[in-house]
Amino acid sequence: MSEVVIVANAEVAGHYASDCIIDLVKAKPDSVLGLATGSTPQPVYRELSRRQHDVDFSRMRAFALDEYIGLPTDHPESYRAVLNREVVQPLGLNPGSVKVPNGRASDSSHAGADYEREIHAAGGIDLQILGIGTDGHIGFNEPSSSFASLTRVKTLTPQTRADNARFFDSADDVPMHCVTQGIGTILRARHLILLAFGSAKAEALAAAVEGPLTASMPASAIQMHPHVTVFVDEEAAASLANADYYRWVFDNRPEWQTF
Ligand code: F6R
Repeated sequence: MSEVVIVANAEVAGHYASDCIIDLVKAKPDSVLGLATGSTPQPVYRELSRRQHDVDFSRMRAFALDEYIGLPTDHPESYRAVLNREVVQPLGLNPGSVKVPNGRASDSSHAGADYEREIHAAGGIDLQILGIGTDGHIGFNEPSSSFASLTRVKTLTPQTRADNARFFDSADDVPMHCVTQGIGTILRARHLILLAFGSAKAEALAAAVEGPLTASMPASAIQMHPHVTVFVDEEAAASLANADYYRWVFDNRPEWQTF
């Protein structure tokens, strides 16, 4: 089962997730992170930037979870640009150490296989940061995605395009297609940290953590992973049937236990 930690707010989650990343990088300086984009991971990236002097990030490597297809590379909402802004520049990383799937439309047929090769060559992902879509997607693995899927091109649902319209001038500007790590790719990472904040995520989060395993709820695949930590605020936790038990577990954590 996933360890579900209900926190007071996103900043507390950002603090805990940063602890995990900093401990990992201290133990393994060339760790490989998996980086989500969107609003959810921002408190983590802000906290890492605030604590960048606690650890040497210079050898850390990272892989983005996904990228839109067809945006110019210098578009401010390409995930390459977002990660440059939120992670690479604040942490002073070498931009080449953070890989992003190739979102050029002309290369999309082999972008997935190329990306899988790069992840494999890096030794796999040690810690993957995940958000969750209101329709239950992780990465951009929309409902019906195979649990065995690897990095490939996907078509965004109208719901995801509407959710992401806030980052663009208009809903029509949200790309239709993306290259995303598959669910199988995500499940190969050695530790998954899934974050969810706000009431809009409550139904999907409960279905992901407590519902049946089904491709109709892609995030439910995390139940098959041996090491998952879910940091969730009260609003996103509102539909969890076992919330009291998760609080009980957290309040009674053995001192030696880490996330
Ligand atoms: C982003 C990603 C998506 C988002 C999800 C939630 O790289 O892969 O799965 O995590 O769409 O988005 P936000 O955090 O903006 O609510």
